[in-house]
Parts: sequence; C-alpha cells; structure tokens
Amino acid sequence: MISRFSYGKPFPTGAVVRTIEPSRKPMPFFRIRREGTSVSFSLDLTPEEIIFGLGETVRGINKRGHLYESWNTDIFNHSEDRKSLYSSHNFLIFFRRDRLIGLYLDDSGRVIFDLGYTKRSEAVITSENGNLDVYLLEGGQLKDIVHEFREMIGRSYLPPRWAFGYLQSRWGYAGEEEVASVVEKHRERHIPLDGVCLDIDYMVDYQNFTWKKEAFPDWKKFNQRMKDEHIHLVPIIDAGIRVREGYSPYESGLEKDAFCRKESGDYFTASVWPGNCCFPDFLNKDARDWFGDLYRPLLEEGIEGFWNDMNEPALFFTKESMEEALSLVERQKEREDDYEGMWALGSAFGSMANNPKDYQSFYHRTEQGTIRHDYVHNLYGAYMTKATADGIRRFMPDRRYLLFSRSSFIGAHRDGGIWQGDNFSWWSHIRLALQMLPGLNMCGFLFCGCDLGGFGQNTTEDLLARFLQLGVFTPLMRNHSALHTREQEIYRFETWEAMRGTVQVRYALLPYLYSEFMKAALRDEMYFRPLAFDYPEDDRAVHTEDQLMLGENCMIAPVYEANAEGRYVYLPEDMLMIRFRSAEDYDLERMEKGDHYIRLRLHEFPLFVRKNSFILLGKGAESTDELDDSSLTALGWLEKEAEYAFYRDDGVCTCPSLNQGLTSIRLKPGDNTLIYPAATSAKDDSDYS
Ligand code: GLC
Repeated sequence: MISRFSYGKPFPTGAVVRTIEPSRKPMPFFRIRREGTSVSFSLDLTPEEIIFGLGETVRGINKRGHLYESWNTDIFNHSEDRKSLYSSHNFLIFFRRDRLIGLYLDDSGRVIFDLGYTKRSEAVITSENGNLDVYLLEGGQLKDIVHEFREMIGRSYLPPRWAFGYLQSRWGYAGEEEVASVVEKHRERHIPLDGVCLDIDYMVDYQNFTWKKEAFPDWKKFNQRMKDEHIHLVPIIDAGIRVREGYSPYESGLEKDAFCRKESGDYFTASVWPGNCCFPDFLNKDARDWFGDLYRPLLEEGIEGFWNDMNEPALFFTKESMEEALSLVERQKEREDDYEGMWALGSAFGSMANNPKDYQSFYHRTEQGTIRHDYVHNLYGAYMTKATADGIRRFMPDRRYLLFSRSSFIGAHRDGGIWQGDNFSWWSHIRLALQMLPGLNMCGFLFCGCDLGGFGQNTTEDLLARFLQLGVFTPLMRNHSALHTREQEIYRFETWEAMRGTVQVRYALLPYLYSEFMKAALRDEMYFRPLAFDYPEDDRAVHTEDQLMLGENCMIAPVYEANAEGRYVYLPEDMLMIRFRSAEDYDLERMEKGDHYIRLRLHEFPLFVRKNSFILLGKGAESTDELDDSSLTALGWLEKEAEYAFYRDDGVCTCPSLNQGLTSIRLKPGDNTLIYPAATSAKDDSDYS
C-alpha cells in the first residue's frame, strides 16, 4: 500500500510515474516538525532495526548509524565520512520483524538523513526546503515494498546486450593509434572485449562534440574498423559547454537561449575541464531538445553508447570565487606573520570547487517558472541523462543504446545506467562498491558498476584481479583509471592469462546474467539484493554485509582483502558452490547451510547456486556479437526437478516482451547439459547435477 503526503509546494521531479492522490490524513509512524523552511520526519528505531536503501552512498548495506545528505557532489575521495556522493536516491526501508516501512522523499533539494547518528534510537530526516512529496509504502515483505516502489517510478532502463560485454577505459588514451593498440592487445591475447570508452582526450580542448583531428584523422573510418572488430566506441560527454566564439555548440546554445543565467540576466559560467563553461538548462524542455540533438552527428557515425559526466554539475571555480580567494592572497602579502590568514587562504582555495554559493547564483526556466538552482540541484544530472536519452531515441527509436551517467536522481533509472564515480585503487572500495549495489537496485538503477581496478591511485595486480571478480557479476563491467595512474589494462600484468579467465567467465555466464537482468528489469525486481530480502527470518543473513543475492537463484561473495587466500561465507541454505578459474576450469562443491571458510586463491572466485535450482553456462566468446548460446551447460545441485525461466531476445529491440522472450527449462536430477531450446538432458555424468 502506498500513501502520498505533500508538504509545501513540491517541484515535480519526474521521479514518480504513477498518479497517487495526496492523503488528507496525517502521516503515520513519523513525528513531523517544521523549523523555518525545513520540515523533519522522525521515527523511533528499535535496537535491532535495520535501514536499507539510499542508493549511492558510502558505508554499509545497513545505513543505520550515520549521517547522509542528498546533495549531488563531484567527490574524488569516497571515504567513510562522506555524506554525499554524485547522486541522490531518497528511498529507504526501515526493517524490523514486526514492522516494515518504505519511505521515498521526492525532493529536488537537499535532504539530510540522520539515521541513528545523533541518537541511535531515532531516525530524523530533514528536507531543507520543506517542499516535497513523501511516499509511504507498507505491507508485505521487503521484496514487495521494492516491487511496489519500482512500479511507482517506472521501468528501468534496458541497455543493449553488447553493453554487458567487458569495456576498457582510461583517461589518457591519446588517439586512435593508442585505442587500436589497446584493442589489438586484447584480441591478440584473446581477452574478451566489447568496447573502449573514450575519455575527454578525444575532444579538441575538452570541448564536447568535437574530435581532435590529429588524434583521430579519419574517425569515421576508425569507428568502422572498430565495429568490424566487434568493438563499440563509447565517448564521454560532459555537462559544461565551453564559452568560445566560433565553437558551434556554444553558438547554437546562445541562439537557442539554452544556458542557465544569473539573476542579473548574465550567463552563469564556471571553469571545468575545457575552461570557462556555460551550463545547459537541462530542466528546460527546449534546452534539452537542443542538447539531445548535439549527439546526432555521433549517432550518424554509428556510435551507440555514451557516458555523461561532470553533471552534478561539477564546478571547479567561478570567476567570483577565484577573485575572492586572490584578494586574500593580496591581503596576506601584507601580513606575513598572520597564520590565521594562512588558514583562511587554504579554506578559500579549498572550498572553491562545488561551492554552495555558486549553486545559489543561477536559475532554471522550468514549466513551473524560474527556479533557483539549489532548489533543484539534485535533478541536474538526471535531466542531462533525459536530454541525451531523448535525443538518442529521436534518432534511433527502435534500438537500445548504452548510456551511463555519473550524477543521477530517481527517474533517470528509466533513461540510463550509472557508474559509481571516482573510486580509488583501494581494497575497501571493492567492498564499498558491493555494498552500494543493492541500494541502487532498490531505486531502479540496475545497470551499474564501479571502475574496476580503481580510478584514482595506482592499482596492483591482485587488486585488479579481485575487482574483476566482482565485475563479472555487475551489469556494467568496465576497467577505468585516471590520468597519470599506473596503466591497468589486464595485459599489463604478469598473470594476465588468469585475469583473462575471469573475463571469460563473464562471457560464458552472459546469456544467464542477461536473462536475470532482463527479468529483474521487466518485472520491476532487483538483480542484486541484500540477503535479508530472501531470508528475512534468518538473523545471520539479515546482518550479512559482504555477500549479495544475484537474480533468482544465486549468491556472490567476492574476496576484498589483500593477500587473502579465501574468505568466510555464510550460506543461508544449502547451495552448490562453483569455484571459477575460467569458463572451462571450475570445480563444484555441495555445501550445507552455515558458515564456511572457502579457499579462493588469487584467481579463483565463487558463485553459489541454491540447491534445487541451476544456472546456465555457455562457451563464451571474445565479443558479445560472437556469443553462441545454442548449447548451454546447466550447473546445479538437484535433488528434485527444477525449472528455470530463461530469457532471450535479439539484444537491441526496444519493446522486449517477457512472454515472448521466456523459455522454460526443466531439469531432473542427473541432467547437467542441455541443448537450447530443447530442454532435454544430454549427459549424465556429474556428481553434482
Ligand atoms: C571525472 C570522471 C572520470 C573521468 C575524468 C576525466 O573525474 O569521473 O571518470 O575519467 O573526469 O574526464
């Protein structure tokens, strides 16, 4: 059951697609307090109460005990004390045995979540502007609450099947020669690969929608050459448009009056990668249409994938904030021994990027009238995604596209996926990425993944290997790293063959993982879930922070510690463990419910399959184009007949149908191989089937 409660004058964010009339009754469970413009909602928490949700945030799967803020921020260091990352996903579930409450705050401005931080026994959620719709979901189980929420916010974005292939990326690939050599090195060594992401280096002076001629002399030809090798080029597009006479997106943006302005009527500008930029007014439909059409020349060349970046929007500095800081420098010159002045200098320069004052200084022209940016700040990235997605759909209405963004808000899950931003090459960031995934799935963001190997800092061979082992299961599987960091393509390392084995598992599992992803998306379900969703009565499962349920029948438990030769895993029921080394090299072990220490040497990783169910493993390929799922092996521990609903489609159609895509596969104990589509057994030689 969903009820809606309205406060103030909520801005229509577009997150909710179902019409739910506001309730006239007071909101149950929560104490409501107004102070100035803000409104707070407080809920008493029992000692055992768990809080799931909040999508892209740091810390654990259980969000209790910390302070979070919905305020989309370009943040380079995802340390434990961060209150905000790049996205705002204001949906949470309060879970205890005798009560289950789902809560969504549809608020485009800053929201503060004190989830047992000030007082362990109380959650206080504060909307700074006090203009919001609150949706309360009650009844059923955890899965039902999410399902109902997901129906309310609309179906998740469906990427094409090739987007589930392995993608290589790096900030710093200089041009087509380097990209071609990266591809060649993968192909020579038979490391599967489906795409290369092009970072800002491909642009002229980091200006959107331009191509550096020296680096890509005939990029149309180059794109075709890549396509012939089954490689998709995925260029980056940033939010800011450089202020430069003669630069066509800038000129056409001026002509269309598509940029945000200040109160004075002047354009708001700030420095980002290309230098001083104007910012498209993504909350304005005409500006969105203009921006979406800028992708057209790239689409015409056959590009079918993009990543949108810097769309919180990230602001390095404005002219005003720089002038202010420089005036402090001048002052300091005259007061050499003033250490307080030195602190002030540090703080003036340190707080220049993404400064709240700057976000208060420009406006959007929306259907609801002109509105100051900070009231709708968290929508900016989501509406950039919408502009792009609409532009692509206008151009190719009958094909799916790849799109992932850094910043987002609920609603953008209908138009694209996200990546989890600028993580580091740190062991703790494998675990952090895993812990974010179920929260993102709750909010409809199914197509997501982190920078494998770590973006900032220098990776190490073992770290990359373990990152990849998580990446095998994340819908977006991309190796990405920052400029000047250690190169981290798989082939750079001594044990590349073993890492290739990991990527081969991804391709062998792809028919199955794609099937699980599409079913989850088309049924408004989660692809990754905390164990509590499947075993709410099991106290150990409910508190498990480093394992996830995947699809209908599986569980993952990656290793995330340096030099570990294995890990402890809790099995909430009997399961079959598949210990993978490559697509052909794996062993199977039946394991009983309970705690296990599992030996997992550096290039080994497990997948657990529930007893009396099975997964499907193909032969793999070097690209998704070449995948052949006509013969799949079923792996499972069957003591009775089991059935699997296998989903397949052409991987690009925009109106996939569950009914048409599903085939039921039945297996009896003793069967372990099946030839699709005939669900019959061919072999009977496995102990484990
Ligand atoms: C941002 C992005 C990162 C990208 C870099 C350069 O930091 O998050 O992925 O590589 O900008 O474009």
